[in-house]
Amino acid sequence: MTSNIRHKHLLGIQHLLADEITHILDTAESFKEILSRPIKKVPTLRGCTIVNLFFEPSTRTKLSFELAAKRLSADTVSVSASTSSVLKGETIIDTVKNIEAMRPSAVVIRHSSSGVPWLLAKHVECSIINAGDGINEHPTQALLDAFTIREHFGRLNGLKIAIVGDILHSRVAHSGARLFSMMGADVSVCGPVSLMPPKPEVLGVTVSKSLEDAVEGADVIMSLRIQKERQEKALISSEREYARFFGITSNVMAYAKKSALIMHPGPINRGVEMSPETADSEQSVVLEQVTNGVAVRMAVLSLLLAGSESQA
Ligand code: CP
Repeated sequence: MTSNIRHKHLLGIQHLLADEITHILDTAESFKEILSRPIKKVPTLRGCTIVNLFFEPSTRTKLSFELAAKRLSADTVSVSASTSSVLKGETIIDTVKNIEAMRPSAVVIRHSSSGVPWLLAKHVECSIINAGDGINEHPTQALLDAFTIREHFGRLNGLKIAIVGDILHSRVAHSGARLFSMMGADVSVCGPVSLMPPKPEVLGVTVSKSLEDAVEGADVIMSLRIQKERQEKALISSEREYARFFGITSNVMAYAKKSALIMHPGPINRGVEMSPETADSEQSVVLEQVTNGVAVRMAVLSLLLAGSESQA
């Protein structure tokens, strides 16, 4: 598979064009087929080394990048903040320059500060892949969400997608809204006023007055995790009240199309962001999102790195 996206790094959806997104999703489709085979491995990135550098907790993204790299025959190494020399006062730029001195092809980074992947991309030669930076972007999550939606509907164009919850702090919402609107979806957002960004329209979305308005006739309902770790003070009065006004339940789903998908990037706070019955319902594609994450990250890694000089 040859690289024909014009980028060395994947920093955010804002730098991708619609046809590049389509190409990543098409490539992920072929990798998903490989993942259904008994031997789920191809030699595409043999000789490459990918370093996962995670400064925030992660289950899905970290494991999925590791598996994607292994399925492509790359070597992988994972470093977490709690065991790195950042704890001894080393700067993030020095840390990544030292990692780069060991000649990896790419560094996959998750960090609590928005903009860190952009900063690193200016200081190092290897590819930088954003696995989530602060409240800013989570591009591979948006791509795997788009892949999941496209798998069900065959397209994104013309679909009504409602994103519900902590829009202000959700990098998933920011990357997703940008991607879905770029691909022609009609994206509405809904959440507590205290969790709404000052200018949501820059994401290409409309703001709904109520949850019912947002969900009315929707093809996709994406619920978001409340990002408590990014709230300096309490921005919702209580989880019980949040669940009452913004929790996705079967009553809320009755406003959407019968065929509507229920999505959540995980981890889910059951009973708050969505009821357990909704999370486990036939319309829920939450675990499909996780499955598709591996194929999408294989596509991203191969399109950025295949043919790079680090390969054997
Ligand atoms: N969706 C997501 O980013 O999950 P993790 O925090 O578990 O990686």
